[in-house]
Amino acid sequence: MEQMHTIPEEHYHVAADHVRARLSVAPAVGLVLGSGLGPLVDEIEGAQAIPFGEIPGWPSATVQGHAGRLVGGTLEGCPVLVMQGRIHYYEGYSLAQVTLPVRVMRLLGIDTLILTNAAGGLNQGFSVGDIMVIEDHIYPAGFSGMNPLHGPNMGSFGPRFPVHTHTYSPQLRALAHRVAAGQGLTLREGVYVSLSGPTFETPAEVRLFRAWGGDAVGMSTASEALVAYHAGMRVLGFSSITNISLDSTTAQQEVSHEDVLRAGKQIVPRLAALLRGVLRELPPFDPGEIENAPEHD
Ligand code: HPA
Repeated sequence: MEQMHTIPEEHYHVAADHVRARLSVAPAVGLVLGSGLGPLVDEIEGAQAIPFGEIPGWPSATVQGHAGRLVGGTLEGCPVLVMQGRIHYYEGYSLAQVTLPVRVMRLLGIDTLILTNAAGGLNQGFSVGDIMVIEDHIYPAGFSGMNPLHGPNMGSFGPRFPVHTHTYSPQLRALAHRVAAGQGLTLREGVYVSLSGPTFETPAEVRLFRAWGGDAVGMSTASEALVAYHAGMRVLGFSSITNISLDSTTAQQEVSHEDVLRAGKQIVPRLAALLRGVLRELPPFDPGEIENAPEHD
């Protein structure tokens, strides 16, 4: 696969035009489904599926458990565009390619992005099967200069120096808690540590991330959230806790991708109900909520 570190602005438009022409409903909400969460698309009404491979410039999903389709339709009357499967950095793509779908969604008029993932629980109060709404993230790749916004800024999407104090919408997080309470669902909240993968973290890293204030750890999401918030979208994120991260080299058990997929499947009905509830009560988008605005010449 060809790695593209900078994607010409034109390419985003070509991909967006292709997708727009194949959808009968203009989507307002984007939804990215993490490992094992693909079956959530069965909930979509009037589903129109577009395989990633048919969209010009769109990276293909190579990981088991990620179908690799874009599915348009409605959920609770809300026009949605769902990524059934996501693109990860560890597959060999650049961060620009990993986050291309987010910018394409933006060009399609989507102003609200809901990101889901499978994650290991760092917080010792968490159990396998828990759902965590993401309060904020830690992005260690960014510490060493890896950032999806590296390179010339595309001012039509957002500013050169985006601020990220409220990356995950406080209003939507509060809504998620209200909906969960109404459903009798325990909803955790916490900080997601976003690694590049594909290696799972070591026990020493688990202890480090805990000391940093991390509650869950995974291999996605932060780069997408950074690009979405840069582009003026409001973001809501959920981690499904599919395993508890091991913090000792004397631990006897191991985590595996198969365990992650299995646990993800069990979380789907609860996460689907939560997402439906959030979409049912989704407040109108207010651009004033977002700290970043496009640059104008
Ligand atoms: N670590 C990283 N990514 C993951 C994990 C984990 O423990 N579980 C699911 N995705």
